[in-house]
Amino acid sequence: MTKSALVCGAGGFIGSHLVKRLKREGFWVRGVDLKFPEFAETEADDFLIGDLRNQAVCDQVIDRRFDEVYQLAADMGGAGYIFTGLNDADIMHNSATINLNVLDRLHKRNTKRVFYSSSACMYPAYNQEDPDNPNCEESSAYPAAPDSEYGWEKLFSERLYLAYNRNHGMSNRVARYHNIFGPEGTWTGGKEKAPAAVCRKVAMAKSGEEIEIWGDGTQTRSFLYIDECVEGTLRLTRSDFEGPVNVGSDEMVSINQLVDLVADIAGKDIRKNHIPGPLGVRGRNSDNRLIEQRLGWRPSQSLRKGLEATYEWVERQVKRNDAS
Ligand code: NAD
Ligand code: GDD
Repeated sequence: MTKSALVCGAGGFIGSHLVKRLKREGFWVRGVDLKFPEFAETEADDFLIGDLRNQAVCDQVIDRRFDEVYQLAADMGGAGYIFTGLNDADIMHNSATINLNVLDRLHKRNTKRVFYSSSACMYPAYNQEDPDNPNCEESSAYPAAPDSEYGWEKLFSERLYLAYNRNHGMSNRVARYHNIFGPEGTWTGGKEKAPAAVCRKVAMAKSGEEIEIWGDGTQTRSFLYIDECVEGTLRLTRSDFEGPVNVGSDEMVSINQLVDLVADIAGKDIRKNHIPGPLGVRGRNSDNRLIEQRLGWRPSQSLRKGLEATYEWVERQVKRNDAS
């Protein structure tokens, strides 16, 4: 019999890629989001435009049992969205309401397992002050001290999913994603993350010109390519391990190194103008020991390979925008 899947947030970056993968695997897929995917037609069999903060919409979407359920809907963005402080109330209210409503409705429909996408932003800021040596081991989460309200909401919601496991006999799965990038991700408008922003800035610059970079560029991050994020998501969901577990790359680079890599891929000589901006933690890197131990798998694709595909896609969007 054909298996069914529900993807909440199917109009977003990761959700739309996940839908494609589930379709390739032969699933019947229902997607739900406030909007359709921006850059390609959805491949979902059934796509509902609806607001998951609204209980009546949750009732309509969750009108049956699904073989697999992925909850990715959230009010989210990169540093320019979550670290300014301007969106804190919306982020907390919107994402927590979605999770409270969706999870409870799924439980009442007798759903046994939901995948939930938490974030590395839930890790304590005090362990991410040294750019060369951040600690993002899963067990380091407490005492809690995320550096953003976005991170606090993620921590609350991952606890919510795990509480339903303990008290309601569910077997939900929780991943902590570390900065996911790739084609068809937000690349402009204020919610884009560093890889897409840097690709856009390099694509718009001529060789020899400078681009603006927030901070001194020595802050570090690791970036996970979208295909590996989807792979890790499916593997965790179908495993006997509930998490929380990091789903991220452990190829840590500074933002300056990220710029140099993209410039090299573009074949341009790019200079950096470091300006004040929203920065977040000084250093972050995925610790992949637990995922390897529990799932026998870890992401392995090089950052450069993922950036090549991403730069090509972002450059196309820039040219298309210029032409219109
Ligand atoms: P995204 O913003 O592209 O996708 C999220 C989707 O949720 C959007 O399409 C949005 O319209 C939808 N949504 C928001 N509010 C909604 C509502 N009230 N009702 C229905 N839909 C609603 O983000 P993404 O990068 O695809 O991230 C997916 C999930 O993974 C999110 O939960 C995010 O917090 C988490 N995550 C992402 C990253 C990353 O680097 N992309 C890192 C850590 C965690
Ligand atoms: N977005 C962006 N745009 N970041 C820039 C830029 C720019 O033009 N220039 C420099 N940066 C720096 C930021 O200041 C930050 O220090 C670093 O690049 C990374 O920024 P982002 O990629 O925007 O976000 P993040 O890594 O701090 O947080 C992201 O990852 C989390 C998971 O690891 C966010 O997407 C979170 O929502 C996500 O949960």
